[in-house]
Formats: sequence, structure tokens, C-alpha cells
Amino acid sequence: MTKSRIAAIDVGNDSIKAIFGELEYELNIPNIIARDTEDRPVIGIEELDNKNPLDGIHVKIHSPALKENNVIYRVGNLATKSNNATELDPGSSKSEEDQTLIMLFTTLALDAVKDDATFLKTKNIIDANYTLGTGLPLREVKEGKDAGYRSKLMGSVHQVEFLVTPKYQGLKVNLKFNEVKVYPEGFAAYINLVMDNNLKIINKDLIDRRILIQDIGGLSTDIAVIKNRNVDDDKAQGFNLGVSESLEAIREEIRTKHGVELDSRRDVVEIITRKNDRNHIMVKGSRTSVHDITDRILLDLAKKQYRLLRNVWSKNSQTEICYFVGGGAHVLKDYIKTLNNNLDGYNLEFFEDDKESIWMMANAYYKLIMDFARKTEKQNIVKQPQPQPVKS
Ligand SMILES: Nc1ncnc2c1ncn2[C@@H]1O[C@H](COP(=O)(O)OP(=O)(O)OP(=O)(O)O)[C@@H](O)[C@H]1O
Ligand SMILES: [Mg+2]
Repeated sequence: MTKSRIAAIDVGNDSIKAIFGELEYELNIPNIIARDTEDRPVIGIEELDNKNPLDGIHVKIHSPALKENNVIYRVGNLATKSNNATELDPGSSKSEEDQTLIMLFTTLALDAVKDDATFLKTKNIIDANYTLGTGLPLREVKEGKDAGYRSKLMGSVHQVEFLVTPKYQGLKVNLKFNEVKVYPEGFAAYINLVMDNNLKIINKDLIDRRILIQDIGGLSTDIAVIKNRNVDDDKAQGFNLGVSESLEAIREEIRTKHGVELDSRRDVVEIITRKNDRNHIMVKGSRTSVHDITDRILLDLAKKQYRLLRNVWSKNSQTEICYFVGGGAHVLKDYIKTLNNNLDGYNLEFFEDDKESIWMMANAYYKLIMDFARKTEKQNIVKQPQPQPVKS
């Protein structure tokens, strides 16, 4: 049997989070792609070898799993700069979009090329086997789309060819899956809250309680309802409301009001969450407050999020606590807390650390897939025939 490497990947609408191997490698790539041609122009005297590959992901993907095969894409940061970039549409199904697969394959290929020693490499071709843990929104799992998604991945070899990409230009990666596990997103968050890396219960208090998990992402918000150690499929709800739109609105208003062009939503996040000089920018060299803008827009979104919570809580009146996760929870934390103090006073919990909040799903998939891999390994050891004594 060929050696297979563990990968846990959360394909978020805003960004992909991936954890590999023995936790030794992580990737976070914006979920943006743009169609391109064979030779992307290298601007100026851009020296491909000295640049960060993640800023120049340019790939051609061959896979029977794709609706459109053999297309060339810019991925992540490089795609941001294109005028034909596409981000996932909130109404779409993750499991049925080529974009999901393109992001997934590219992320795996980036891991595979990083360190030749892990996989078999002949000339410019790397054969990489993975045991993958990933997830889909509860809604899609409820519709049974997880099975089709899994078999699309398992059924064939998927090839990622690096074109004009720093360091990796000319490399091809053949991806195969030994196993793919598709977990429902809400359930995964619960697992991460109550169990450690060995799936030992770390939070006895929580495990049998009725809880809600409100995941505020870039484009969507999901509220999972947990009861009897399980996700209540019928009660869980997804909403097409994330934090990206508000971040974009803040960026736009800073531009029109102060004439300052921020590069990305990430810059906005930085301004509203940093420890020192929060909610201030430099305008022509003078420190200037943008608090009025950020406060109004974020409070508005926090109110909408609070309304979603109220709505779900009222239908699940015996809920004991709600956890807020996702990047949006980090941005809206103070606003939601203040609203809650003045209004219903629900029992709410946030994570102090933004990383914990944002990597919640990826961490959960990692725990689950590691546990799966350990169990199969044990079984294989038991099943293996005992060596016969050698006759001399
Ligand atoms: N520390 C942070 N680092 C990066 N992004 C952050 C941070 N804090 C907040 N954000 C913002 O939070 C938003 C949501 O991020 P998150 O990674 O949770 O979304 P996602 O899981 O990719 O999207 P979805 O859940 O809609 O599929 C993004 O718009 C991001 O800009
Ligand atoms: Mg998410």
C-alpha cells in the first residue's frame, strides 16, 4: 500500500484552511479563482524563484470530477487582481461547484510539492496520496450530497499542473485519495468544542447540554442545534448573511469619505481588531478616526445576527448556551455582547483567540480524520498475516 498523508481541509466561502500531516503544515488561501491562459504575463522583472508561490498560484487542472476540465486558473491572491475573478455565490451548493474542487486540489498540490521527500517523484511528476477529512454545510449533507461529493473525489486521479508559479513552475501533481470523509460543518464544530486530538472528551460539562453554534463566515451564517450529542438536522439553519459585505461597505465609505484606498477586506479587519490604534487610519499623515463608520456598519450587522440567534433560540427554548465561531464572530464580538447585555441576556460564549474561531472547522476535521486513520492503521496491523518461520 502506498503511503498516504493526512489532510484536513475546510473549504470556506471566504478562505480555505488546511492542516497536513502531523500538524506540521498549514495553509490559508483566499477562495478566489479566475480563468487564465497558458502564459500569464510576468510583470516587470519579477523573478519567479524569489517570490512566494502563494502569491502566484497559476495552475491547470485535469480531473474527471470537474464539469469543465483542463482549464487554467489563477488562484487566491493572484486571482484577486484579475477583473474576472469569481467567488462562491452564497446561494450555490459547495459540493456541486467546480470552484470547490479547484481550491481543494490546488491546496493539496501545494502541500505535495512543498517537500519532495514525502511522495514519489519521477522527473516533474509527483504522485501524492491523501487521506482527507473535509466538510459540507449541513444543508447539503441533509440533501445527501456528501456521498456524491466523496465518490467524485475517490473515483479518479486528479492532476494539478503548476504553470507560471514561483518555485513550482513545471511541476505536476497526481492526486489520489485513499479515503475521503465528509463531515457536516455544524457537527464538526461541536466535536472540536468537546474533544481533544485523541477524541477524548475535554469538556464534560458541555457534552450533554443543548447548545447552539453560530458560525459567522464571510458569506454565510450557519446555526447548528446540538442535542443528545448530535446535530439536530431539522433545526439547523443556514443564512446567506456573512461579514464580507460589511467589510466591503466599510472600505468603500473610508474611500469616499477620507480618500483612502485600502487594499483589501483584510486591511479592514486589521483596523477594526488591532490592539493599538483600533479604528484609526492615517489620512495625509494625520491620525484619523473611522470609528463612526465602523461602528454604524458593524452594529447594523450585529443586530441582524442577533435577530437570527433570537429566531433560532425561540424555536429551541431549552438551549443552554450559544457559541459564536468563524471570522465574523471575531469581528462582531463586542457588538453582539453589548446588544445581548441590553436585550435578552442569553448565555453566549466567544473565543478570545481569533485563530481558534477561524480554524474551528479545520481543527475538527483534523481530529476526526486523525482518529479515523489511527483506527484503520490498528485494524490493518491486526489483519496482517503473521510472518511464517523461515525453514532453514
Ligand atoms: N483574524 C482574521 N483573519 C482573517 N480574516 C478575518 C479575521 N477576523 C475576521 N476575519 C474575516 O472574517 C470573515 C469570515 O472568515 P471565515 O474564515 O470564518 O469565513 P469562511 O469560513 O471562509 O466563510 P463561510 O463560513 O461563509 O464559508 C472574512 O471576511 C475575514 O475577512
Ligand atoms: Mg466557515
